[in-house]
Order: sequence, then C-alpha cells, then structure tokens
Amino acid sequence: MRSIFVVVLLGCFQQSVYSQASGDSTENAAKAKANTGEKKITIAEKGDAVAKKEFNHSKYYPPSQIPDRIALTLSGDPATSISVVWRSSKLQAEPRVEYAVATSGTEFVNATSTTIATTEKLDFRIVDSYYHTATLSGLLPNTQYLYRVGDGSKFSEWSEFKTAKANDESFSFVYFGDAQNAIKASWSRVVRRGLRDLPNASFFLHAGDLINSSNSDTEWGEWFYAAGWINRSIPIVAIPGNHEYGKGGLSRHWKPGFEFPKNGPEGMQDSVYYFDYQGARFIALDTNREIEKQAKWLDVVLENNKSNWTILTGHHPFYSPAKKRNNPKLRELFEPVFKKHRIDLCLQGHDHSYSRTFQTELKKDIDASIAAKHVNNGTVFAVSVSGPKMYTVDKKTVMQRVAEGTQLYQLITVEKNKISYKALTATGELYDAFELNREGENVTIVDQTPSTPERRFNNINFGK
Ligand SMILES: [Fe+2]
Ligand SMILES: [Fe+2]
Repeated sequence: MRSIFVVVLLGCFQQSVYSQASGDSTENAAKAKANTGEKKITIAEKGDAVAKKEFNHSKYYPPSQIPDRIALTLSGDPATSISVVWRSSKLQAEPRVEYAVATSGTEFVNATSTTIATTEKLDFRIVDSYYHTATLSGLLPNTQYLYRVGDGSKFSEWSEFKTAKANDESFSFVYFGDAQNAIKASWSRVVRRGLRDLPNASFFLHAGDLINSSNSDTEWGEWFYAAGWINRSIPIVAIPGNHEYGKGGLSRHWKPGFEFPKNGPEGMQDSVYYFDYQGARFIALDTNREIEKQAKWLDVVLENNKSNWTILTGHHPFYSPAKKRNNPKLRELFEPVFKKHRIDLCLQGHDHSYSRTFQTELKKDIDASIAAKHVNNGTVFAVSVSGPKMYTVDKKTVMQRVAEGTQLYQLITVEKNKISYKALTATGELYDAFELNREGENVTIVDQTPSTPERRFNNINFGK
C-alpha cells in the first residue's frame, strides 16, 4: 500500500459549541500566560509573520526523522487489533509498523510482520509535521506484542502492548479529567501516577480538555511529553472537550493524532464512537456539538447491548456541582436514552473540580443537589480534573463526594459482576471510592467514601 499524503483542510466544518457549558472556553491568552509564566503561541491562527514573531523556541517540540508522539489507540476489536499513530518530519520512505509476538530474547525479529501506514501532513507554516497511522489487525487475543515505527531506516525503540482477552475477564483502566493547563509542569506527575498504580491498565481514558488551545502544537507537545512512553504501551481513549475546539472547528491535531473507532454518527466519526472491552461497552461522546444527533445514535447503539456494563464518557457534565455550570439542555436531550437503557457510570470533566453522585436518574428539571439522591439501578455520575486549573463548587451541593483545588486520577476495575472505582489525589491518597455490584439485572452501589474531610477552599483561584 502506498502512503497517502493529505493536506489538512482548515475550517472544514462549522463549530457549534454547546454554549451553556463552555465557561472555561472564554479563558484568554492572558490567563494562560499568567498561569504558565510562558509565552502563548498562536501559530495556527495567525499569519506567517506574526506566528514567527511569537514563536518561542524554548517551548517548541519540532518533529524530526526520529518518530515521536507515538501512541496506541483502540479502533476496532481490542482482542485482535490495535492502532499505532506517530509523528515525524518528512520521511524518505514509506512509514511502517513492524511487529511480532514478544519473546524474552531478540528472536522475535525473525518473525515480524509489517503494516504500512497512511500519512497526513500537518502544515504549521514554520515546520511541517507528518502524522502516520497504521492499524494492526489479525492479532491474537491476550498476547504480548512488540512493535516499532519508522520509515525502514530510522525506527523507534521496540515497545510492547498486550491485546485484550476475548472473554469477560476483569480489566482495569485509568480515567483522567481535564489536563489542559501547565501540562508539562503540573500534569506530568498525575499521568505518571496512573502508570505506577496500574502498570497493566488496559487503557488510559481522557475525558476532554487535554490541552487549552486547540491548535497549539506546543501544548500537544507538552501532553505527549508528560505521558511519554506510557502512550506507546497503554492505549489512549479520548474525547474532545471545548478546548479541543477553536475557530476552525476540531483541533487540527485530533484527527491525525488519534485513531478511534469509526462507528459514530455521520459527520462525527472522529470524535464520537463506542467499543466493547471484555464485557463492558464504552460510549465516547463529543458534547461540544450536535448533541441531539448523538442522543439518537446512542439509543441505537444501546438497543442490542449485551454487555455486562455500560460506561459513558463525555466532557460536559450532565450534573455539575456548580449551578452556573449546570447543563439542563444536555440532560433534556439524553433523558429518554437514560430512561430506556441502563448506563452504569458516566465519566466527565470540564468543571475543574471533583464531584460524584450516588446511583441516580438523569432528568432535565432537577439540579445537582437533588441528583445526589439514590435511585435504584441509576447511573453514577463522576466529574474529575487532573490538571492544575481549579474552579469552585457551590457550598450547598450535596454530591456524595466533592473536592476543590485537588488534582485527581481514578483507577477503575471492571469485573463481570463488579465495578470498583477509586479516586486518588495527585499525591496518591484515596479520596473517593465505591463499588457497583451486579446480581442479574440489579445493580447496587456500596459507598466506600473515606472518612477524610472534603477538600474545600474559600476563594479558590490557583491554577487560573
Ligand atoms: Fe471544558
Ligand atoms: Fe477544562
């Protein structure tokens, strides 16, 4: 197969941001500058002259012929396939992935297969990047593989991944809320804690706002720097937040940088999708636009869902612990779907704080405090933040557990009849926990909230 070079088109669709929930999209460059103490780069939105003037070499992550930003993603059946994405400067030969079943010595190099990648050029005026994508298929379930990426002469190191099992055995993953700001400086430690606590995680799930400025190559560079080689061995599951959107629509880094299942609604197949992983169905929404279309799509996706569990991720919370950031329109559109199908867990971001409900129902006309009341077989809604920017929550909110001013990450283990959820602070302390136990069609929650006091602050403004 020959490489395909595609020039990315700017402004290819109209952005329609979900306005009620986009409070932090109004942050301006001055805030970002104040936050990081470093110069903001707006290369993608300005002309060559201005871009070059604003260019800050100290924060630049240029591509080279040595592959970087190497990441695994799940794009098909995770037991038999995996996608590999990476970046380089212009290559002299066809980009490719070489892979083989792992061996303890180097004998695997005599049994490699090769998959040629497709390539997209990302023109940032100052330097061209080339993003390469290859999907490895026909893999063996529950098997350790080694792979490397390159152009036939310059390669990455051999990295490893393990395919999913073909049955409903237990697995674990890590869920992160917004990284977004001071990513290299202050998010690195959190994503690395995820690896330390769950080194065999099936994937890392990022619930949007991975970066602050949608097209900032510098911020994407920081994001890939922070996670480093973790992305080469643990697949990424990600959805766009409002900060992945800018004047030209979805970030120009999104489509070439990630390869997700192409099973979303028409016109949204880069950012809306679902996949099944060892007995659980994961739904990934793009709550920035065309929400009604996604609600109808979700109804169909859940119609014949035979999974033990259904876990949904979307950036904008259905229920917010801050009234001014509440999202009744989102609830209105999805209320019929939640009523018709059981969704066990919702993993969200956007509010730059932490909150978690009991099992509850999704209703347009109830606010966050009422939502905290228990409803049998309801949904648990969680909002979290992994980066340093923080918002306040309402004093009266009665979510089961709330935090302000706290960077967190969540470890989630899914078994056939149990989900275990733990939220830990950036220093590794248990902050919140619960279990969902399933008996037949009945799912009950066992709350395990630790007795430590809630982290609440007056006049919180750090990270802004
Ligand atoms: Fe957001
Ligand atoms: Fe955010």
